[in-house]
Amino acid sequence: MTYAITAVSGQLGREIALKLIDKVGSENVMGLARTPARVEGLGIEVRAGDYDKPDELRASLQGIDALVLVSGMAPPKDRIQQHSNVIEAAREAGVRKIVYTSIQGPDEGTAFSPVVQSNRQTEADIRASGLDWAIGRNGIYIEPDVEYIDSYRTKGEIANSAGDGKCGYTTRSELAHAYTALVTQDNLNGQTVNLNGAPITQEQLAGYLNLAFGTHLTYRAMSSADFVADRTADLGDFIGPIIGGIYDGIRHGTYDRSGDFETVMGRPHQSWEDYFSALAH
Ligand SMILES: NC(=O)c1ccc[n+]([C@@H]2O[C@H](COP(=O)([O-])OP(=O)(O)OC[C@H]3O[C@@H](n4cnc5c(N)ncnc54)[C@H](OP(=O)(O)O)[C@@H]3O)[C@@H](O)[C@H]2O)c1
Repeated sequence: MTYAITAVSGQLGREIALKLIDKVGSENVMGLARTPARVEGLGIEVRAGDYDKPDELRASLQGIDALVLVSGMAPPKDRIQQHSNVIEAAREAGVRKIVYTSIQGPDEGTAFSPVVQSNRQTEADIRASGLDWAIGRNGIYIEPDVEYIDSYRTKGEIANSAGDGKCGYTTRSELAHAYTALVTQDNLNGQTVNLNGAPITQEQLAGYLNLAFGTHLTYRAMSSADFVADRTADLGDFIGPIIGGIYDGIRHGTYDRSGDFETVMGRPHQSWEDYFSALAH
């Protein structure tokens, strides 16, 4: 069996490649990247794989048995077409199975919902492709909150519109373990699984960050409109409302689920106590 992963120049694609190499050996793993020259130190063949270039994708997928398609970053309409290009190229190249890194989120009623719907459309395209498939729906990455620690420390607080809502965050490392299982184990074919750890509130998140970094952060709930204005001032008109929509989803309970990680891995997702304790050392 030969496996390929798209977007190995990105953080999730790289993590999946590393875990897959551990499991099946580097000679059986190939990476795709929009700019292969940017990928360093993986020790595997990396071929050209721009989601906007169907011919390039078809040529690069020759000889591949199973593919992990890492969701792109383009605006929703472009993203559906890009993913469709990958699915079609895989089919034409004779790939047998495709695994897609989808997302959890509010399907409607928030500024994030068009992004969620675009991922749902790609899920539907994969189910209709005639290939074997498995779909993971990622929880929200916890790493950005950790990377944000200096900013939180300066402000002395986490402030957003999640309120008391609980969020089943995850880590790229745990996701990479799950995607390695999904692509290598045919007993998981035909499944759509939610991949996340135990749901926590923002107040709990502040507590874990305090444990790891010796900070004294508190949590302050903001109104949805105030938070969107705050994020838009920092991140601009496209990303600001999307971030607001994610936190609206948390407040509405969209991410408050136990998920299917244990079904996929045969073990629970890493606990937040373990994750943050390890950061403290
Ligand atoms: N669950 C969450 O909290 C969360 C948060 C953010 C994003 N996401 C989703 O998860 C995905 C992976 O996350 P990540 O952490 O790996 O993001 P990342 O580190 O920013 O990587 C994004 C990857 O997408 C690739 N890409 C973008 N446009 C492409 C195209 N036209 N053709 C081929 N590759 C393209 C980039 O390639 P280049 O190196 O060429 O730019 C890069 O490898 C994201 O793309 C996004 O859909 C999820």
